[in-house]
Amino acid sequence: MKILVTGGTGYIGSHACVELLTAGHAVVIVDNLSNSSPRVLERIAQITGRQPAFHELDVRDRAALDRIFDAGKFDAIIHFAGVKAVAESVADPLKYYSNNVYGSLTLFEAAARHDVTRVVFSSSATVYGETARSPIREDAATAPANPYGRTKLIVEQQLGDLCAAGSEWRVAALRYFNPVGAHPSGIIGEAPQGVPNNLMPYVCQVAAGRLSELSVFGHDYPTPDGTAIRDYIHVVDLARGHLKALEYLERTRGMHVINLGTGRGTSVLDMLGTFERVNALRIPHRFTARRPGDTTETYADAARAAQFLGWRTELTLADMCRDAWRWQQANPAGYV
Ligand code: NAD
Ligand code: UD1
Repeated sequence: MKILVTGGTGYIGSHACVELLTAGHAVVIVDNLSNSSPRVLERIAQITGRQPAFHELDVRDRAALDRIFDAGKFDAIIHFAGVKAVAESVADPLKYYSNNVYGSLTLFEAAARHDVTRVVFSSSATVYGETARSPIREDAATAPANPYGRTKLIVEQQLGDLCAAGSEWRVAALRYFNPVGAHPSGIIGEAPQGVPNNLMPYVCQVAAGRLSELSVFGHDYPTPDGTAIRDYIHVVDLARGHLKALEYLERTRGMHVINLGTGRGTSVLDMLGTFERVNALRIPHRFTARRPGDTTETYADAARAAQFLGWRTELTLADMCRDAWRWQQANPAGYV
């Protein structure tokens, strides 16, 4: 297949491109490089032996998108492009509505003009909101607690309405839980700008001595060890889920909302302990107050992905910790 990958130089998109190219698909990446480096392209080629086609463009640029679609027919789109920082979305909601909602709308309009009606969309477990009970099934109520989550839900709704209006549309909205880790080669991985917000990149930078200690946010949660529980998923497993979703859309029409998670909960201390054990390191840490807006426990019911896509995760928490650290060691300052 020939696949248009928006946001393909980003963290998850780059791993998906590796899996797509390895499976023999043709890949065209579009990305405005607002949160990624063009060096990713050489790295993808280093792993796969094939360099994907790349166009630097913003998905809000209608004319630029038309030129890409005019140049050759795509079988499907995987739409990763977007902005994703929860706190920033509270401070600057227009940036989120513009990139995520208007950007997606512009992309879907261009796709419709060119009869490309197969879409895999990067959604997030954040659409479920703070009160959903784990394991979370896809039919749980949605109640995003911040502008970022609302933009993801609005795009899902756009896609659902498109599918309801025209029987030719085939859409998988994949609700990711907590993607972590890196390609096992250590050649591509997550390269956050500035001080990381998320647990795994923070732990890696403490391990590397770039940050002095980890603050464990909350030690008084009603969980076995008092720290909060999440569903961490290896980014390579996640990337493979996108290929399975593309295959699924060959067989089925309409709108499909699917969780991508392991179905298992891991506490902050479980994560820390595993990271220390597999990498033979000590991570200095101290307990601090809960982070506002955090849930006690969020993990997926992964049954639908298994049933619809024939996909389940294969990589372990130890793999996530080992691969994240290998990437961090080989690329202490990211893609420079
Ligand atoms: P990322 O920032 O590494 O990748 C996103 C890419 O999109 C970047 O390369 C960025 O330059 C590009 N981009 C942003 N706005 C654009 C625009 N207007 N036009 C063109 N390109 C644009 O993030 P990621 O972690 O790889 O996330 C990919 C997708 O998955 C995002 O939509 C994100 O919301 C979603 N998601 C991520 C997570 C996570 O924890 N990483 C969890 C759930 C959902
Ligand atoms: C966050 C986002 C969520 C997004 C997800 C992507 C918030 C409120 N939520 O979720 O929308 O989809 O990232 O992966 O930002 N922790 C620490 N110390 C740290 C960092 C994190 O103890 O320095 C804890 C957190 O309190 C949480 C766990 O580690 O319990 C995971 O945190 P994080 O990686 O930020 O992910 P989420 O909070 O699940």
